[in-house]
Amino acid sequence: MSFSSLVSNLTFRDSDPEDRSQFSRSRSFASTAATSVSISGDISSQLHGGYSHPLARSWQAERQLTKSMLIYPLFISDQPDEETSIPSLPNQYRRGINKIIPFLEPLIQKGLQSVILFGVPLAPGSKDAHGTAADDPQGPVIQTIRLLRARFPQLFIVADVCLCEYTSHGHCGILREDGSLNNQLSVDRISDVAISYAYAGAHCVAPSDMNDGRIRAIKLKLIEAGIAHKIVLMSYSAKFSGCLYGPFRDAAGSCPSFGDRKCYQLPPGGRGLARRAIARDIQEGADIIMVKPASSYLDIISDAKNIGKDMPVAAYQVSGEFAMIHAAAKAGVFDMKAMAFEAMEGILRAGATIVISYFTPEFLDWLSH
Ligand code: PBG
Ligand code: ZN
Repeated sequence: MSFSSLVSNLTFRDSDPEDRSQFSRSRSFASTAATSVSISGDISSQLHGGYSHPLARSWQAERQLTKSMLIYPLFISDQPDEETSIPSLPNQYRRGINKIIPFLEPLIQKGLQSVILFGVPLAPGSKDAHGTAADDPQGPVIQTIRLLRARFPQLFIVADVCLCEYTSHGHCGILREDGSLNNQLSVDRISDVAISYAYAGAHCVAPSDMNDGRIRAIKLKLIEAGIAHKIVLMSYSAKFSGCLYGPFRDAAGSCPSFGDRKCYQLPPGGRGLARRAIARDIQEGADIIMVKPASSYLDIISDAKNIGKDMPVAAYQVSGEFAMIHAAAKAGVFDMKAMAFEAMEGILRAGATIVISYFTPEFLDWLSH
């Protein structure tokens, strides 16, 4: 029977004058309603069945969160025995090099595959105008890269590359006398720092400074050094300025002493600018492009996936996003695990396949069950 004759047959049956008894009428109603909804309308109107089982629900996502997508941020202090909690960043600690291995061991057993390192120089006098401590061979980042390479050969080590933790003024580059950013000097310096992290053994260098042209400079220096073939260059391409980095700056001690980062980080409404920054960084030789923060910028993640069709896209669920979820869960707004998954699903749906998240230790547990 053709679709249209089936529909007219049903219509006929519904209006059959013989079919008036309460019983048969309701039977007729019951027997045709479901069918007529789907048949007189579009058959694709019936969706519930497709996600009627938890497994079928999970199949609706284009990609599922796996442990290999997660990168865990670590704050490494220059005080070897330090282990200090960061009040604005729940469950996160600043650790000295002597505390890193015992901390990571159980996480690696649970399936942790990658970390991103941020150095935190606390020693008096360790900060200056050029961020000299950033590539100090005895400094916490370079020492920790070497240690982790030796102790955990399978662990993928990302080194965040920036000067703000190391400069006396707390900005992400080198400044002119009038306090404005000197892009050229900053790029020269930041690319040097990236090369020293790569030499120390980082698998990936990730410049977060947002100076113009740093991806090209780093790629060229990696090529000149003969190590470009074994180092992943992950660019914080679309990094927006805003209030979500506060807990990180508490943790890393990297709050600017004057002004803000608006002349180098993107304005939150700047979608076109983000697209240009992403396209530029791909042209300059980035291997992975990153969007940061994540949940308020899902359209940018989606743009990144479109512009960089053949590139992996990373998203950084930043300190403020993490702290918000914790605070709201504590206030009874929602269950923390449910929200952590929901946020993560949004980030993956937008197009990311790599996520930097402070929830990584929890996800390693949650994904094991
Ligand atoms: C430093 C840097 C920041 C973050 C990553 N690298 C802070 C900033 O730009 O002020 C933010 C990460 C977070 O908030 O979790 N350039
Ligand atoms: Zn910085």
